[in-house]
Amino acid sequence: MPAEKLIVALDTTDLTRAQAWAAATAPHVGLFKLGLEFFLANGAAGIRAIAGRPVFLDLKLHDIPNTVAGGVRAVLDLRPAMLTIHAAGGAAMIEAARQAAETAGAERPMILAVTVLTSLDAAALAATGVAASPADQVLRLARLALSAGADALVCSPLEVAMLRDALGAGVKLIVPGIRPAGAAAGDQARTMTPAEAVAAGASWIVVGRPITGAADPAAAAAAIAGSFP
Ligand code: C5P
Repeated sequence: MPAEKLIVALDTTDLTRAQAWAAATAPHVGLFKLGLEFFLANGAAGIRAIAGRPVFLDLKLHDIPNTVAGGVRAVLDLRPAMLTIHAAGGAAMIEAARQAAETAGAERPMILAVTVLTSLDAAALAATGVAASPADQVLRLARLALSAGADALVCSPLEVAMLRDALGAGVKLIVPGIRPAGAAAGDQARTMTPAEAVAAGASWIVVGRPITGAADPAAAAAAIAGSFP
């Protein structure tokens, strides 16, 4: 797994644009994150066409265990270094994802569990039938995911310190919702700077638009990579 802590989110349906961002930022980043938008538009061939750094495939799989296991096996040929699932799918689904990943051997992808989507506040969570506070539900799902075989957790910057305190130094935390000082927040409501997130305990940070929307993506990535404590 790359030591570089910066993951750049290549969020576009346009393969040529994603390749240009990848080429510009590769010297400064650990991994390229490719999500649903890119994967649904470009498929496996699109993932293969992104070169230079390992790929974090952010598909947030959530289905019955057999189907999730089949989905994980279906992308192993693409050799993703990281792959996301929803912890809310339950222990059996998480175990199935981990077992499917292990069929790839030593080079298998890390299974990353997403807990509570950061777009859900307490009221939205309550409307789904979850009475717990978002923080309590994040911690509950984090513990469930790790005990069922997830390798790491995706969490918001504001959850990093709480998860580090509760789960210890060993847990790997991948953190989006990052904005360099002075950058536009966009639709991200609660952000930290790259340096703040790493100081709080992030193992890797995920940055999209502050890099891909910059006039000079290479310089933006270099500045973030150079800002870590
Ligand atoms: O452009 P921006 O830096 O906001 O991109 C953040 C990336 O991280 C996007 O790909 C987004 O889907 C993802 N993400 C997030 N918040 C989460 C989980 C994933 O922003 N809670």
